[in-house]
Amino acid sequence: MKDPVLGIDIGGTWIKSSPVDVSKGRLIGRPFKIRTPEPSTIDNLLLSFEKIIKNFSWDGPVGCGFPGVIKNGTIYTAANMSKKLLNINLAEKINDLCKYKSTVINDADAAAIAEMLHGSGKAHCGYGGGVVLVITLGTGIGSSIFVEGHLVPNTEFGHIEYRGMDIEKWTAGVIKAKENLSWEEWGRRLNTYLQIMEKLSNPDLFIIGGGIAESFDKFRHYIDLRAKITCAKMGNNAGIIGAAIWAGKE
Ligand code: BGC
Repeated sequence: MKDPVLGIDIGGTWIKSSPVDVSKGRLIGRPFKIRTPEPSTIDNLLLSFEKIIKNFSWDGPVGCGFPGVIKNGTIYTAANMSKKLLNINLAEKINDLCKYKSTVINDADAAAIAEMLHGSGKAHCGYGGGVVLVITLGTGIGSSIFVEGHLVPNTEFGHIEYRGMDIEKWTAGVIKAKENLSWEEWGRRLNTYLQIMEKLSNPDLFIIGGGIAESFDKFRHYIDLRAKITCAKMGNNAGIIGAAIWAGKE
């Protein structure tokens, strides 16, 4: 396993990065945060990566999380990013910037990997762990499903249709502030969403991540499911850590 790895988490609003001690699942030092460029074209993203690599004087492998479907390093979807990124092999572009082989995976899958290995999913990570559904609530809704500790990559459960709209536009983390919703109003929306997800996928455990999960106690009592539910423990840096762990495995 390669260690350490530079983890980069591309979000709709921020790009966060840090070298990661992959075996311990921990950041090395403080994360470096820059705004996601507007428009988020490949040239602008690569400029941001250059800044990050320079900031850490980095000369090693890179693992990156991206908010869309990623197959073999190529961007298939980009719901909250520039559509000009579609079909670009982001891993190859990052490879051109540093001499080590880099990897790119979906951002929610990255955060969920960190959570399963080092956070709330730890007890469900191996054989007998059942089905775990990790939902990250931020600019969009990210989803990640683990079966007996194995990731089924690139699920996009934030885009199921509800009352004629994409459900992430109704109940993502940012919607609470955007529509000035109370915890009860937003919590009830989340409950509707999670109940749909339970009906469709029957997980044994839900793990709720994303910045808003820090306020889990404020909305937990609006959620009524058969499955267990808990909040993520790894905090805002889970995406950086998981992206680095993934690259370290390759
Ligand atoms: C994207 C997902 C991503 C999620 C969280 C959604 O809009 O389609 O791929 O994981 O947002 O960033």
